[in-house]
Amino acid sequence: MITEKMTLAEVVRLYPQIIPYLNELHLDYCCGGHLPMDESFPDGEVDVQKIVAELNKLAAKPAPSQDDGAASIEAFKRLSVNDMLADLEVTHHRVEREMMTQLDQLINKILVVHYTHHAEELTKIHNLFAAMKAELEVHFAKEERLVFPLMRANPHPDNETLAFIKQLEDEHNAVGDMIKEMQRLTNDYTVPQDACVTYERTFNLIREFTEDIFVHVFKENSIVFPEYEEQA
Ligand SMILES: [Fe+2]
Ligand SMILES: [Fe+2]
Repeated sequence: MITEKMTLAEVVRLYPQIIPYLNELHLDYCCGGHLPMDESFPDGEVDVQKIVAELNKLAAKPAPSQDDGAASIEAFKRLSVNDMLADLEVTHHRVEREMMTQLDQLINKILVVHYTHHAEELTKIHNLFAAMKAELEVHFAKEERLVFPLMRANPHPDNETLAFIKQLEDEHNAVGDMIKEMQRLTNDYTVPQDACVTYERTFNLIREFTEDIFVHVFKENSIVFPEYEEQA
């Protein structure tokens, strides 16, 4: 039974099938999901009781099918810490790098083609994506070459490794803020009336990319890091 005293991160850990609903409402379960629901939302902005009722309905539905975020979280929870780290590298890091390469080209293309009528919003989207890409490339390198190897080498965490994990969590928060800004700039990924097929494809891919980052960050912040820290 889900109550308003639970955090969104706890609820997703138990019932990952609620992720599409949270994405739809722009409720952050990965970076900012660590306060009880009744303390998370500014007064009047969100009807917590209604959300809790809807979450309980969704939680009662059958276990998730294969190949969506929910199924991947269910499978992830059952892995050892070392296998979780390997899994993050071969799934989310690989897939998001490929998406960033594609998005880099697509965003540049729509910027040039639609500059005459949409210079202002496309310039902001272009610059924000460039900043996100730069942040994430360095963040993935830091995880793969520094922090994950330290976690493997020290199954019982030391202070140095824990401090690096804290840095990664701060970087996750920064990327979470950029995703919220991207949702705002793209008007929740809604293309303008005169958009071409490439414009639409680009916005759809930005949405897919940001949703994958949410699942990715959730797995790190709410599953693998706490599990590792418990070994202290
Ligand atoms: Fe990662
Ligand atoms: Fe990360």
